[in-house]
Amino acid sequence: MTEEPRFKFGKNWQNFLESISDEQLRNASSALSNLLDAESLEDESFLDAGCGSGIVSLAARQLGAERIHSFDYDKDSVEATRTLHSSSTSADDWTVEQGSLTDADYLSKLGRFDTVYSWGVIHHTGAMWQVAESLPSLINPGGRLVVAIYNDQGTLSSLWRIIKKVYVKSPSPVQLAIAGVYFLLASTARTAKNLITLHSFRRTRSRGMSGWHDAVDWVGGYPFEVASRKQVTDFFESKGFTTEKVLSVGSRQGCNQFVFRAQSSPMAEVQSKQ
Ligand SMILES: C[S@@+](CC[C@H](N)C(=O)[O-])C[C@H]1O[C@@H](n2cnc3c(N)ncnc32)[C@H](O)[C@@H]1O
Repeated sequence: MTEEPRFKFGKNWQNFLESISDEQLRNASSALSNLLDAESLEDESFLDAGCGSGIVSLAARQLGAERIHSFDYDKDSVEATRTLHSSSTSADDWTVEQGSLTDADYLSKLGRFDTVYSWGVIHHTGAMWQVAESLPSLINPGGRLVVAIYNDQGTLSSLWRIIKKVYVKSPSPVQLAIAGVYFLLASTARTAKNLITLHSFRRTRSRGMSGWHDAVDWVGGYPFEVASRKQVTDFFESKGFTTEKVLSVGSRQGCNQFVFRAQSSPMAEVQSKQ
């Protein structure tokens, strides 16, 4: 079987960390706290599945998470997370390693966590629904599952899949040109929208991210799958989860964000009844 081409997420994350500011780290913490509707994660365990730069693992630690496990398929993402890990003043009980959501053996050794956070990840695994099936077994009874999944825009999503595939197969100068054009178009559109709505230009990006690195991540992010908001809620509700929160992008481009709550009885029992 020929391997699908893949975007080098980790290289992008390493570049991102080179210029990260304290304000971005603070934003990541408050974004996580807002998303979870929790001021503190004290005494909780946190699994950052597909940790990328590691910024959210660090945010979880800043919110007091007691035990953190961060893993990513891409060794450069793992290195990026290790950089933040070693800069943290409290790195105890925070492990960082290479691992894949598509590796059932690996997942079976992880145990269960109070929060499983997999933001913008499962749609890049090349096996989104298979990975979605495996997430419930990682969550403690009563725990949370956070996922963010690209919105299904029909034909537009199919077009983006082609662009992304072209991007990952192209030499670096072409990749830079594609990302540059997209960044300029997206920035111009955002500026025009801000002018029309008199929105503040000084607003920083949520989750502590950066405009350029987000643009590269978007144009390059391949494998690329999408799902509608309903497909995702139906799927996890059929596994016994309650939908606690959905931050929807409507019909627009981007990730719908979901917070699900596991039943207080073990999820394995719920699954075996089906
Ligand atoms: C868009 S980034 C999101 C990073 C991070 N979750 C965040 O919120 O910033 C997607 C990440 O998923 C990782 N990834 C892709 N396939 C994966 C897999 N099979 N197992 C674990 N991580 C994977 C990529 O390497 C990349 O770092």
